[in-house]
Amino acid sequence: MNDKDNRSVLDLFRLDGRRVVVTGGGRGIGRAMAQAMGEAGADVALVSRTREQLDAAVGSVPNSVAVPADVMTVDPVSLLDDCQDALGGAVDVVVHAAGFQHRQPIVDFPPEQWDRILSVHLTAPFRISQELGRRQLADGRPGSHVFIGSLNNFQSVVPDIPAYAAAKSGVGALVRAISKEWSGRGIRANGVAPGWVRTELTESLFSDREKADGILSRIPMGRLAEPAEMASVALFLASDASSYITGQMIVVDGGWTTS
Ligand SMILES: NC(=O)c1ccc[n+]([C@@H]2O[C@H](COP(=O)([O-])OP(=O)(O)OC[C@H]3O[C@@H](n4cnc5c(N)ncnc54)[C@H](OP(=O)(O)O)[C@@H]3O)[C@@H](O)[C@H]2O)c1
Repeated sequence: MNDKDNRSVLDLFRLDGRRVVVTGGGRGIGRAMAQAMGEAGADVALVSRTREQLDAAVGSVPNSVAVPADVMTVDPVSLLDDCQDALGGAVDVVVHAAGFQHRQPIVDFPPEQWDRILSVHLTAPFRISQELGRRQLADGRPGSHVFIGSLNNFQSVVPDIPAYAAAKSGVGALVRAISKEWSGRGIRANGVAPGWVRTELTESLFSDREKADGILSRIPMGRLAEPAEMASVALFLASDASSYITGQMIVVDGGWTTS
């Protein structure tokens, strides 16, 4: 963006001609973010493991294609090659929304779950952004890398999720590190830090009435968020509407962290 840019403010949110990769695009927050990007005109590659969910998402997300992959094991070079081939050109935006949860007290927390959580939430986003950044820097192309953090970026929210809390804190640090190194060359990195969102990831927690009431009573807005309420913020971060924002985690939590 520069001062000769005569697009209207609403046009700054458009992603026409941009190519976007969304991990975790098969359901939940990732799918809602992919929907927002597609509606804003982007071509979108949806990455996750469950083929049926990807196919269903492709049926509703405009201009989208499915690229099935496990971010924990896939080689980022071949993942991005596959996405580029499916999208017909270089990738402009990545949204790292793949994730899962494992809840267990620290004394019993299995090392393999620690490794899996760190791998999906922190190592995979690092490796995919690293490879995408290499390509964007080599081509002199601008880019926006959008990460998904958590309230755990700022506080210890609930017990029994030590790996998730550590991984999400790491995501905040990674966003700042990428921003420090690349934003002077046109590549921004930011994150959305959601509060409590109604998805499969939180289903088991909210099916426990007592736990659900305890959490809801601490949210000033008194309700869970819907995935679409995260998606509009991701679209803002992906688009030129946020052209001077980098290195930030944007909290979207119904007031939780301020109360
Ligand atoms: N829900 C919340 O309240 C909340 C709050 C803060 C942050 N977040 C974060 O938001 C992100 C999305 O979570 P969500 O709530 O939307 O969860 P979700 O509904 O369970 O969706 C998770 C998505 O990630 C994909 N995924 C999981 N493991 C994967 C892997 N190894 N490789 C590729 N894809 C994988 C899943 O598809 P497959 O299983 O088919 O691969 C699914 O599409 C996560 O980073 C989560 O930590 C959620």
